[in-house]
Amino acid sequence: MKEIVLFVGILLQLSILSSAEYNGFSIDLIHIDSPLSPFYNSSMTQSDIIINAAFDSISRAESFILNNDLNSDETITIPNRGSYLMPFFIGTVPRGSLATADTGSDLTWIQCLPCTKCYNQRIPIFDPRESYTYHLIPCGENSCKKVRKNSCGNIGECRYKVTYADNSSTQGMVATDTISFNNSYNGHIIKYPNTIFGCGYNNNGVFKPTGAGIFGLGGGPSSFISQHGAKFGKRKFSYCLLPFYYVQGSSKLKFGVDTQTYKTGVVTTPLVKKYPSTYYYLSLKGVSINGKVVKPDENVGNIIIDSGTTVTFLTRSLYEKVEAAVLEAIGHQGVAIKYQIRPFRLCYKDGSITNIPHITLQFFGANNELRLSTLNIFLTLDNVMCFAILPTEKISIIGNLLQVFFNIEYDLDKRTVSFAKANCLKE
Ligand SMILES: *[C@@H]1O[C@H](CO)[C@@H](O)[C@H](O)[C@H]1NC(C)=O
Ligand SMILES: *[C@@H]1O[C@H](CO)[C@@H](O)[C@H](O)[C@H]1NC(C)=O
Ligand SMILES: *[C@@H]1O[C@H](CO)[C@@H](O)[C@H](O)[C@H]1NC(C)=O
Repeated sequence: MKEIVLFVGILLQLSILSSAEYNGFSIDLIHIDSPLSPFYNSSMTQSDIIINAAFDSISRAESFILNNDLNSDETITIPNRGSYLMPFFIGTVPRGSLATADTGSDLTWIQCLPCTKCYNQRIPIFDPRESYTYHLIPCGENSCKKVRKNSCGNIGECRYKVTYADNSSTQGMVATDTISFNNSYNGHIIKYPNTIFGCGYNNNGVFKPTGAGIFGLGGGPSSFISQHGAKFGKRKFSYCLLPFYYVQGSSKLKFGVDTQTYKTGVVTTPLVKKYPSTYYYLSLKGVSINGKVVKPDENVGNIIIDSGTTVTFLTRSLYEKVEAAVLEAIGHQGVAIKYQIRPFRLCYKDGSITNIPHITLQFFGANNELRLSTLNIFLTLDNVMCFAILPTEKISIIGNLLQVFFNIEYDLDKRTVSFAKANCLKE
């Protein structure tokens, strides 16, 4: 008996040691459409992938919940297929899981056994009965109140329900368990005991089998960074995304690491507090096209930066001005193909663009302009290049294509987002 107690004591100490990684950690993300992804569908052409991603982006852009929406506490953004998947482990004996890395969601949730209703998922579904570190949360507790739309179950347990704008939904228990990551700095497994997450027993709708759920990277109180930021001394995360067709390495996501310190030309702009606290609102002052600056009608908190939308959206009046300036700058209006490759608005025959304009984004409070590369704003389909920005009636969104090859750091304590050019492989 004594030996067992001693042994458990040693185990506990070991797990405490391995859970302290004060300098933060790094994870390799998987792009769902990358040839390196376990879900890669080789019968899809690059054009299929791009067009699907663009239509998915439109559904997502339309589903952002803003101030003036009716039922705004009922529904949240459509997760879609997601773009970047995040590997992690859950449970006492770490079981591998994979979920969409989503800056548009707070609570992380995964499907759980025994399912009342689960969608088909390619990796094994988590069984909390196998994990003795899994605990339900009583409804009265603070950690329950952090979760939007929480409710109280039959035995006084905290429950969650998320309904997405396309009527997909997930519901289940709000619980805590150990979530662990494979730190790509050193291959060590780093543990975060008592992480609040949603164990989803009833999951309906259009979720794809590629993920077990959603990993919440939003700014609200139930997201991973809000829960654990204090453990690495700062509520800060960053990512450096590679486009899906890039196979030389992996995109990186880091928590608690100062990633911009030695970089030059860093563009830093304040986060704007707006409803809901989940989204990261920035203020776009203008878009410069070969030096010609066009300005949005509204200024403060007029654009959301999002990991889960592929193309970029600008509100219609700004979009029209930007499109006109791009057409004017490229100057070969005769070879522009308008409205022929849905959902894109403006495409050019391959090789017909000789002078791609310099486009920069001007953010409030930033000393530098964010200088975009061709691959941030144009997509190559079969034999055309399409402008990867679309108009929206809702709110402007910086999609993940515009973010590739930038190291982007979200500092929730200083309330800033910063961008620095990076090749992402050496990050
Ligand atoms: C792969 O893509 C093809 C062509 O789009 C599609 O018909 C097929 O269903 C896809 N397969 C899977 C497993 O998703
Ligand atoms: C979602 O469901 C509600 C009620 O069942 C229905 O009124 C609405 O049209 C549905 N929305 C979508 C996008 O299917
Ligand atoms: C952690 O990642 C490294 C590098 O990808 C890999 O070799 C190792 O097997 C991983 N460890 C676990 C437990 O998955």
